[in-house]
Amino acid sequence: MRKQISPAASVSGAIQLPGDKSISHRYAMIASIAEGETKISNYSTGADCQSTLECMRGLGAAIERRNGVVRIHGHGLHGLREPSGVLDAGNSGSTIRMLSGILAAQPFATTIGGDESLSRRPMERIIKPLGQMGARIEARENRFPPLKIHGSALHSMEYTLPMASAQVKSCVLLAGLYGDGQTTVHEPLRTRDHTELALREFGADVEIDRLAVTVTGRPRLKARELRIPGDLSSAAFFLVAALIVGESSLTIHGGGLNPTRSTLLDFLAAMGAQIKILDVTSTGGELVGDVLVRRLPASGRVIGGILEKARTAALIDEIPVLAVLGAASEEGLIVRDASELRVKETDRIATIAENFKRMGVAIELREDGFEVPGRQQFHAAELDSFGDHRIAMAFSVAALAADGPCTILGADAASVSFPEFFDTLQRIAE
Ligand code: S3P
Repeated sequence: MRKQISPAASVSGAIQLPGDKSISHRYAMIASIAEGETKISNYSTGADCQSTLECMRGLGAAIERRNGVVRIHGHGLHGLREPSGVLDAGNSGSTIRMLSGILAAQPFATTIGGDESLSRRPMERIIKPLGQMGARIEARENRFPPLKIHGSALHSMEYTLPMASAQVKSCVLLAGLYGDGQTTVHEPLRTRDHTELALREFGADVEIDRLAVTVTGRPRLKARELRIPGDLSSAAFFLVAALIVGESSLTIHGGGLNPTRSTLLDFLAAMGAQIKILDVTSTGGELVGDVLVRRLPASGRVIGGILEKARTAALIDEIPVLAVLGAASEEGLIVRDASELRVKETDRIATIAENFKRMGVAIELREDGFEVPGRQQFHAAELDSFGDHRIAMAFSVAALAADGPCTILGADAASVSFPEFFDTLQRIAE
C-alpha cells in the first residue's frame, strides 16, 4: 500500500493508544499456561500480537477475542497439546523467541516459523541457552527460522546473556518455569522487565537483584483479570511529530510508564522537549499515566543528544523516530552501541539511511550506529518502509515536516504493531 502524507502545521489533540505490544505477547503466553480463564483488556491490535494468539490457539489454549477484550482459558503449565501443523509467528521476533522457551519444555516437537523477514533473524541466541537446559532445536543453517523444537524435561540453570535482549531473557525465564529448581539470567544492561512483572502477577516467584533475575521452577500460575497500558513505543511517533511540527500540544492518555521503557520520556526531556506526566497509577504491576507534550515554535526546538550503551538498549525500538527528531533538532543525534539495529525487522541503520538519502538528509553511518547532524530540512520524496513497521511510521512522521507531500511505499507494514497509526495521525495532524 502507498500512502501519501502532506506536510502539517500542527499536531494536537488527545489520544488513547492500543495496548503495549510487549506486554500483550507475555500475557497471552503466560495466560495459556495458567489455570483458568484470564481476561485481558486493551490487548494490542497489531498483527504480531495476533500471531501470538494464533500460536497459542494452535497449542490448544481456548482463546476468544471480542471488542478489544481477549479471554484465554489455560490448563496449567502442562496443559498445552501438540499442534497439528507448523506454528506461524508471522513477522514477530518476540513470538518466536519467547514462545520457544515454553515449547522447549513440552513433551512433543513443534515447528515454528514466520515470514521472510523473520526467516532472516538470528536464533542462536535462544538455541544455545535452551540447548543447555536440555531441549534440542533444529534450525535452518543452524541459526534461522523455521525452528524444530524437540521439547524435553528441562534443567534449571544460571545464564549470562551475551547481548542486551529482553526477548532472550524472557525465553530463558519462561523455560525456567519448567525447570527443576531456580533459573537465573544475568543481563549486561537492563532491558524491559515485563516478563518478570507478568510472571509475578500470575503467581510465579520472581526475584530481581540489579541485573540478575531468578525464577523458581514449576509454579502454579493462576488466571488473572488484566488491563494493558497504551504502547509507549507507538506513542513515540506522535510525541516526535508534536516536537518537529509547527505549534503543537498533544495528550496521550493511559500510556505505559514502566521505568524500563520510559527512558524515552527522560531522553526527550533531556533533549529539551516540554513533557509532563500526570495521573500515574499502576495496573498488573505496570505503571500507567497521561503524557503531555507541547511545542511553541519560538521556544520549542529540541537540542539534540547522544545515545549509547544503556540508553541505546532501552530505546532500541524508538531509534528510527529519534533519528528523525535528531535531524530536526538543533545539534543532531549521535547513536552508538546499536548493532542490534542491524538484526531487527530490517537492518534499521541501512533503512533509516536510505530514507534520509531520499529526503536529502545527511547521515553518517557506523557499523554500530550513526550520526545525524541537526537543523536539516526534510525534502519531499518517495520513501519506503522496506516492510518494517517502525520505518513506515518513523518516516511518515518525517513527512509531516517535509517541504511537500511524500509517499510511503509499503505503508501497510505499520499494522504489524499499530493498525490505527495512519487514522490517528490524520486525526491529530493538520
Ligand atoms: C522486545 C524486545 C526488544 C524489542 C522488541 C520487543 C520484547 O527486542 O526490540 O521490539 O518485547 O521483549 P530484543 O530482545 O531483540 O532486544
